[in-house]
Amino acid sequence: MQVLDNLRLAGQGDASDLSEPSAIAIRDGLIAWTGDASDLPAEFAAAARRDLGGRVVTPGLIDCHTHVVFGGDRAREFAMRLEGASYEDIARAGGGILSSVRDTRAAAEDDLLAQALPRVDALLAEGVTTLEIKSGYGLEIETELKMLRVARRIGQVRAVTVRTTWLAAHALPPEYAQDRAAYLREVVIGGMDRAHAEGLLDAVDGFCEGIAFSPEEIAQVFDHAASLGLPVKLHAEQLSDLGGAALAARHGAISADHLEYLRGDGIAAMAASGTVAVLLPGAFYTLHETRLPPVAALRKAGVPMALATDCNPGTSPLTSLLLAMNMGATLFRMTPGECLAGVTLNAARALGLPDRGAIAPGLRADLAVWDIAHPAELSYRIGFNPLHARIVGGEFV
Ligand code: NIG
Ligand code: FE
Repeated sequence: MQVLDNLRLAGQGDASDLSEPSAIAIRDGLIAWTGDASDLPAEFAAAARRDLGGRVVTPGLIDCHTHVVFGGDRAREFAMRLEGASYEDIARAGGGILSSVRDTRAAAEDDLLAQALPRVDALLAEGVTTLEIKSGYGLEIETELKMLRVARRIGQVRAVTVRTTWLAAHALPPEYAQDRAAYLREVVIGGMDRAHAEGLLDAVDGFCEGIAFSPEEIAQVFDHAASLGLPVKLHAEQLSDLGGAALAARHGAISADHLEYLRGDGIAAMAASGTVAVLLPGAFYTLHETRLPPVAALRKAGVPMALATDCNPGTSPLTSLLLAMNMGATLFRMTPGECLAGVTLNAARALGLPDRGAIAPGLRADLAVWDIAHPAELSYRIGFNPLHARIVGGEFV
């Protein structure tokens, strides 16, 4: 039991919203009470007290969409794109995702972990306390499972909750170039059964795009996920509009992600199903995308918006969730309050985690303590890290 004292709580809506000096009582890793210290319930009177010096406290940040486990890098491809090649050109020529697949297949499990940890540490250094990690650079069962085991090990060797997502429907590997149906049946669906049986899965994702999988193919993947009781999410409308978000919504998806090419029918479907829109400005920026996700229309329709790094070697080599917030504001015109909700409350919803993402009794005591005067500073600054402390399950780390 402990009491954090002399802090100010950042609001979830309007970023100008900051509480009067307050206290938080923590018991068994959960937030037990928050309020004015003079009203502290007697049951916490004997608890150890920690004075936070008037600092701002937010929920621990949640990066709800990453591909942080992968082998190698794609710096050469970055140079090719600067010389004019498009992401799709490179993918069709066997580069892109498939180049990371070669490096990920070749890496031993310990090596993959060693390559991922510096990226993870960069995220944690900015207050991340929950991290989603996808498979999808194996495209064969053993390597997909290896990625998921590495992801789960990250949650053991670092103080962070890791949620793992099956993304075998990320690209078609060359060995199945002549038989897409067999890839879906044997690797995407067969491997999902294996990963689920080994307890390695929290959700199922896919890449619905011309260079990846069609809505009909994704529907098969989603139907199988539903038969296993696994929630679904989708990379949708990133490069074109195939109706992926509406498909995801029809399957009750917890999120649809990217969404630059999303249109009105998809927005209405997401609003009706409560599907979170996960916006990924790092990929927008890296791909020199000019089409903006329809933020104003999502806002108007009441679709919850989250922000994530999409940390991956190709389209978003980004290991800063604070920079994703800044990009959400500057590139996507989200308000600083929306950016903060996008990496806390709405990111938790995008992962189907009702036990976190806000500061309220009964929720996990995952918190970030900041050296800032005002929560909007988290979105305003570029390349500056004002984190004072990270608290995970009630423990300072
Ligand atoms: O989220 N959109 C597909 N997947 C990743 C990119 C993967 C890659 O290029 O390696 C993304 O942007
Ligand atoms: Fe992604």
